[in-house]
Amino acid sequence: MPNIAFVNGRFMPLAQARVSVEDRGFQFGDGIYELIRTYAGRIFHLDDHLQRLEQSAAAIGLSIVYSKSHWKAILEEARTRSRYPDAKLYIQITRGAAPRDHSFPKKARMSVIVTVRKLTPLPTDLREKGVAVMTVPDLRWGRCDIKSINLLPNIMARQKARSAGAFEAVFIRDGRVMEGAGSNVFAVIGGRIITPPKGPAILPGITRDQVIAQARESRDPLLEKGVSLEELLAAEEIFLTGTTVEILPVVQVDGKTIGDGRPGQTTRRLCRQFQQTTYR
Ligand code: PDD
Repeated sequence: MPNIAFVNGRFMPLAQARVSVEDRGFQFGDGIYELIRTYAGRIFHLDDHLQRLEQSAAAIGLSIVYSKSHWKAILEEARTRSRYPDAKLYIQITRGAAPRDHSFPKKARMSVIVTVRKLTPLPTDLREKGVAVMTVPDLRWGRCDIKSINLLPNIMARQKARSAGAFEAVFIRDGRVMEGAGSNVFAVIGGRIITPPKGPAILPGITRDQVIAQARESRDPLLEKGVSLEELLAAEEIFLTGTTVEILPVVQVDGKTIGDGRPGQTTRRLCRQFQQTTYR
């Protein structure tokens, strides 16, 4: 089954997809993206992803030329061509190719790219046993709510965590928990589910929204409020959320065991409930 690309209006095998070396995404990281999953051939929360894409675009002064229905048609066609039931749909939009100059080019055409790749699920024992995370100073900029393709601090942080044997890096800013390098963070503290509030310092995760809605539906006490590093270390339970990790229990932070070292009860229930929403 093929990996597919869509580049500025044309579908092709991913291996044949090309953009200019003068693309501002390549030169400056001047672009935005979305990563969307399919479950059993169905695209998960597409409207929410498209809405966030529009917000990111507006925030960096790009206006997306495709309507939502056009996007849906492109993504459905990409998905159908790939024939992967479980796939990762990646959208990237950059300010296009132009001679290198920091200010916006007058005449560049945006580069609009979609790729489809097979999704390899996380090993089940990670979800069953939970993962370790490592805290790192948040060296990112002030607009982490924009899903920018500038991910250097995220990849440096993730690599640091992986080199230390941890699965994810968790950013700490001014003593407070922000989010993971590619995920949002939730903790169960004093019996309440707590996650840092939306704002310019974190990405408004689609999975995060879904988990909050789920918790509200089952009348779990849930708060969107700041979490200090001390509170995180003393939490009863911790989990990460994200398109690729879904809901992933955390059982160790900086080498300290969380709870009894196994995924907590609330986390496990939320995982089960989440799976029921994913058409599996
Ligand atoms: N990342 N925070 C950051 C910094 C992220 O990069 C992501 C997702 C999330 C979770 O968002 P969502 O639930 O919408 O996937 C939070 C994707 C998966 C990536 O960069 O590949």
